[in-house]
Amino acid sequence: MQSLIICALILAFISPFMCIGLSATMEAYNVIDFGAKGDGKTDDSQAFLRAWERTCGAEGMTTLLIPPNYEFLLSRLTLKGPCNASRIQIQIGGKIVAPAKNKWVSYYFTWILMSNVNGLIVDGREGLLDGLGFTWWPCKACQRPSVISFNACNDLRVSYLRIVNSPRSHINVNDCVNAIFSAITIHSPANSPNTDGFNVYASKNIWIRDSTIASGDDCIGISGNSSYINVTEIACGPGHGISIGSLGRGNDNTAEQIYVRNCSFTNTTNGARIKTFPNGSGYAREITFEEIKLIKAGNPIIIDQFYNDYSPKDEGVEVSGITFRGFDGTCVRDKAITLNCGPQGCFNITLDEIKIVSHEEGKQVYCSGKNAHGTVTATTPNCSCLSP
Ligand SMILES: *[C@@H]1O[C@H](CO)[C@@H](O)[C@H](O)[C@H]1NC(C)=O
Ligand SMILES: *[C@@H]1O[C@H](CO)[C@@H](O)[C@H](O)[C@H]1NC(C)=O
Ligand SMILES: *[C@@H]1O[C@H](CO)[C@@H](O)[C@H](O)[C@H]1NC(C)=O
Ligand SMILES: *[C@@H]1O[C@H](CO)[C@@H](O)[C@H](O)[C@H]1NC(C)=O
Ligand SMILES: *[C@@H]1O[C@H](CO)[C@@H](O)[C@H](O)[C@H]1NC(C)=O
Ligand SMILES: *[C@@H]1O[C@H](CO)[C@@H](O)[C@H](O)[C@H]1NC(C)=O
Ligand SMILES: *[C@@H]1O[C@H](CO)[C@@H](O)[C@H](O)[C@H]1NC(C)=O
Ligand SMILES: *[C@@H]1O[C@H](CO)[C@@H](O)[C@H](O)[C@H]1NC(C)=O
Repeated sequence: MQSLIICALILAFISPFMCIGLSATMEAYNVIDFGAKGDGKTDDSQAFLRAWERTCGAEGMTTLLIPPNYEFLLSRLTLKGPCNASRIQIQIGGKIVAPAKNKWVSYYFTWILMSNVNGLIVDGREGLLDGLGFTWWPCKACQRPSVISFNACNDLRVSYLRIVNSPRSHINVNDCVNAIFSAITIHSPANSPNTDGFNVYASKNIWIRDSTIASGDDCIGISGNSSYINVTEIACGPGHGISIGSLGRGNDNTAEQIYVRNCSFTNTTNGARIKTFPNGSGYAREITFEEIKLIKAGNPIIIDQFYNDYSPKDEGVEVSGITFRGFDGTCVRDKAITLNCGPQGCFNITLDEIKIVSHEEGKQVYCSGKNAHGTVTATTPNCSCLSP
């Protein structure tokens, strides 16, 4: 009797692991088996595509395997769905490098594109994507590609991905619903142009967590009809901070239900930022930044309704329901808090438990604002410019 119980217990414990074991033995397509050389010189794009066609076309759970200890040169890669496979995993073990600028034959908005693949899991442990951005950066006027874009990929999980040297933004998330990005490492120099870490566009239910982003533009930029976006435990810097917007151009100018928590801004030109064009339409609302650590940040808190244009207009993007709570640390400029709202005003702004001091001892910092309405509690520097 007792041995029967023990046996049942053992089975109860083991069977979930057996499921994991089974999924690990699911069909795997190794790019090497499809002719990839991985010598860092041969263009392996076609081999990757052949492996992808099999991965995507097979039934059930499949894996595209990009093995470690190789360097793959890819000219440009588009991995398209919809797929027959119910669940696809892409394991990036090796290093993947982009061609240098002079090897690109024409302009594409992205180097690697994943499009219309639902239930995709990307695991980049040991892997690295190198966009060779330093061959592009000197040409600021050039149309430069992003490293990787996820277009219309629902139920997406991306983890342990390391990306360096993007010619433009590192990761674009366009038109996706339900995605989690975790343990992502992004690195490009502070002076590299337009190298946003993440660009979230027209997406919903996105969680970006536990990641380190050093770049030459926004660590994370959220714009264009996005909602229910969580950003937690991000170490940002250098970079331009975490930005909502810019909103107001085009017809996809909404951002709402955005929650940024427990992030740090180190040596960034901005921290928590909302930027809108003065003459546009749309809204930014129900946005919270809280538990934010500042180390030599410029503009730690900033709402700017005059982005790239200083002429006041009566219309404009509605900014309301914005909370900044629990900011602590140092800033490099005198102006710690900027609430620069247009003539139409910003509403329901909450500032609470904020303590921002200058990184230079004894130097005063201040809060500046106009047309901003809301409440201030426990905030240093004082923000008497905020009216009810
Ligand atoms: C999906 O399976 C069908 C039937 O086996 C096949 O005709 C089709 O080519 C497959 N799709 C892909 C993307 O491979
Ligand atoms: C975002 O955070 C909120 C509050 O913790 C939670 O209810 C929600 O499910 C989260 N959404 C995503 C997409 O992670
Ligand atoms: C905040 O983030 C740090 C790491 O960045 C982590 O150690 C800590 O547990 C987080 N705190 C909360 C309350 O999530
Ligand atoms: C905004 O996003 C929703 C889905 O989240 C979509 O239905 C709608 O068409 C989008 N609107 C625009 C203008 O892109
Ligand atoms: C801050 O960034 C600048 C470049 O933007 C760099 O020169 C400087 O060393 C950085 N300082 C710290 C403390 O990281
Ligand atoms: C706003 O002004 C910019 C130039 O300042 C222009 O490109 C854009 O079309 C204008 N948008 C609207 C909605 O009027
Ligand atoms: C401000 O918040 C209050 C209470 O939550 C709400 O009734 C009001 O509509 C909000 N106003 C704006 C302009 O968002
Ligand atoms: C608020 O700060 C300003 C300077 O930014 C100062 O002139 C004013 O006295 C302060 N008010 C209070 C109540 O501390």
